[in-house]
Amino acid sequence: MPGEVQRGLEDVVALESRICFIDGQQGRLIYRGFDIRELAAGSTFEEVSYLLWYGRLPTRTELAGLRQRLEALRSVPEALSRELEALPVSANPMDVLRTAVSALAVFEPEETAPGPSSIGGAQRLTAALPTILGEFQRRRAHLPPLEPRPNLSHAAYLVYALLDREPSELEARAIDVALILHADHELNASTFAARVTASTLSDLYSAITSAIGTLKGPLHGGANERVMEMLEEIGSVDRVEEVVKGKLARHERIMGFGHRVYKVEDPRATILRGWARRLGEAKADLRYSELLERVVQVVHREKGLYPNLDLYSGAVYALMGIPRDLFTPVFAASRVVGWTAHVLEEYDDLRLIRPTSSYVGPTDLSYVPLGERG
Ligand code: CMC
Repeated sequence: MPGEVQRGLEDVVALESRICFIDGQQGRLIYRGFDIRELAAGSTFEEVSYLLWYGRLPTRTELAGLRQRLEALRSVPEALSRELEALPVSANPMDVLRTAVSALAVFEPEETAPGPSSIGGAQRLTAALPTILGEFQRRRAHLPPLEPRPNLSHAAYLVYALLDREPSELEARAIDVALILHADHELNASTFAARVTASTLSDLYSAITSAIGTLKGPLHGGANERVMEMLEEIGSVDRVEEVVKGKLARHERIMGFGHRVYKVEDPRATILRGWARRLGEAKADLRYSELLERVVQVVHREKGLYPNLDLYSGAVYALMGIPRDLFTPVFAASRVVGWTAHVLEEYDDLRLIRPTSSYVGPTDLSYVPLGERG
């Protein structure tokens, strides 16, 4: 007999994993045993990718090997570029990304095979996402076509692909840290979607296509864009109180606050807050930091809610000049590592994910033929 309904699968333990642990009471996030604070302070996105995929930190040679591999895998087939050129420049970049990953599976079927060997596909996708986004952004922003640019870290390549410029040292580190912080987050909705798809023994690219569609929603990855819309609506620190209270009175959600698992501040938010301020200081623009500081005070006082990482990621990207509708795609360009690590884990310990529902509809209706229904 099915048990009690857990709406939204809240607190349901669906599987065992060795990838990521969230301590929601203490506000801790652990990747493969390592605290996110230590990784954000001393590691790089490539090193964290290695850690998530292979379950341990790389040696120097292994890390250099992964860097080279990712760099070598950046270009995408011309046929894919042509497909993407057919999409209107007005398209939502998350739709473009989802379409591109789906199409890439058609052009590179050998990379998509389900099974432990799909680590090659994981690296291929991770390397290709900045290129896909860059090609789209350059076309709509009238920037020159994307040319290969060697010796850039993954983070620096992402900025170059999107903005046609290399980031400053501070910007490169800020984006690298943002990518580290977004790389995985246990069984969040998009990762769960990827694992559900993989659990049917479907291929890696199908699983990531499911994940991208799931990340797009404003309750998940789309929240950072809405935070920036809210800051724009607020405009100045003296209006924070009025706008936030108005939203709460209308029972609107304040984007960038609250979390299903964290009952205290999201540790990623704490780290990104520091980077938003550092970047703001370097650019002599503390507007976002000041507004956010006040928003945090008011939301906490009024609702007792704490910030999540989406509250600050938008400010970091906006200060670098990344267009707002690319914030969620940038999230995807990092989370693809976590998604693929989870898909690999799923293949390794496969069990079809198929919950059940509690049926509350009728069961004894009599079918009336169409002709007799009037
Ligand atoms: N603004 C206003 N009220 C909120 C918010 C919020 N951001 N978050 C939760 N609440 C209230 C909610 O209205 C409810 O109040 P009441 O019990 O009076 O009806 C209570 O808190 C519990 O909310 P819930 O919806 O049951 O909690 P949940 O676990 O389903 O929510 C959440 C998690 C992230 C969907 C929610 O906090 C939210 O909608 N936040 C805004 C969107 C956001 O910032 N998303 C990014 C999440 S972190 C990055 C990621 O995973 O992508």
